[in-house]
Amino acid sequence: MNLTDRIVVITGGAGGIGAALSRRFATEGAAAVVIADLDADAARAVAEGIGPVAHAVAVDVTDEEQVRELVADTEMRYGRIDLFCANAGVTTGGGVEVDDAGWDRAWRVNVLAHVYSARAVLPGMLARGGGHLLHTCSAAGVLTAVGDAAYTATKHASVGFAEWLAITYRDRGIRVSALCPQGVDTPMLAAGIVEGHLGARVIAASGAVLTPDQVADATIAGLAEERFLILPHPEVADYARRRAEDPDGWQAGMRKLVRRLTLNT
Ligand SMILES: NC(=O)c1ccc[n+]([C@@H]2O[C@H](COP(=O)([O-])OP(=O)(O)OC[C@H]3O[C@@H](n4cnc5c(N)ncnc54)[C@H](O)[C@@H]3O)[C@@H](O)[C@H]2O)c1
Repeated sequence: MNLTDRIVVITGGAGGIGAALSRRFATEGAAAVVIADLDADAARAVAEGIGPVAHAVAVDVTDEEQVRELVADTEMRYGRIDLFCANAGVTTGGGVEVDDAGWDRAWRVNVLAHVYSARAVLPGMLARGGGHLLHTCSAAGVLTAVGDAAYTATKHASVGFAEWLAITYRDRGIRVSALCPQGVDTPMLAAGIVEGHLGARVIAASGAVLTPDQVADATIAGLAEERFLILPHPEVADYARRRAEDPDGWQAGMRKLVRRLTLNT
């Protein structure tokens, strides 16, 4: 897909990666970029920075009715949706001790919201014979987010769901991409670094921390090639291969890294 004259919707569009993607979609020539976010003021600020092609909407992606309305209103206003980006995501920063409310929120934002948007947007895309779903998952969905159990589990689920969609709908004109960055310099990662969170330190030790604009570059290239797995950090492909070939050896390496970082505290 190239972005010229496309109608795009992006959830979490007010955040670090979402805002960079929104700006980039506009400069690539999108006809409309609908920025949907829980944080209405931040979404409006991003839209105002982009100009008239951008439009901000307050949406909680964990509420199916609100997602359905977002899709219906966009289709009514612009006639169609060419690219839907399910990008909103949350971390918990903890392990098994995180309470059920924390696990539930991670599940609802990182997985169920992707189901809601696919449910809402697929009928229109299938009727028109095409469309693209971009799901922001994470390298945590093909590896492990040390220090965040619910993030790891839900991001694996999000990659699994995206793959299921790709296999099920590709022959009916629907393209699906799973965006799986490792460390990206956004409020999400910054909070962990400031707090000295082990997970954030593992990310920083495992490869470059990219800017959101670098993630946007990789995303535009991945969409143009209609690739399923978009890896802004190419080393993640090598890590995933090593993990698949030798799970025990991979885990031993991760434990060693965690021990080294913990000793250096
Ligand atoms: N930053 C990283 O290192 C990194 C790495 C890999 C993947 N990701 C993923 O990238 C995506 C974007 O993350 P980011 O780093 O830009 O984080 P961010 O915290 O800067 O942005 C997330 C945005 O999602 C919005 N949001 C949260 N819950 C929502 C809800 N229920 N409904 C609507 N909007 C909601 C927030 O208001 C925020 O604007 C997430 O899915 C995240 O898991 C981030």
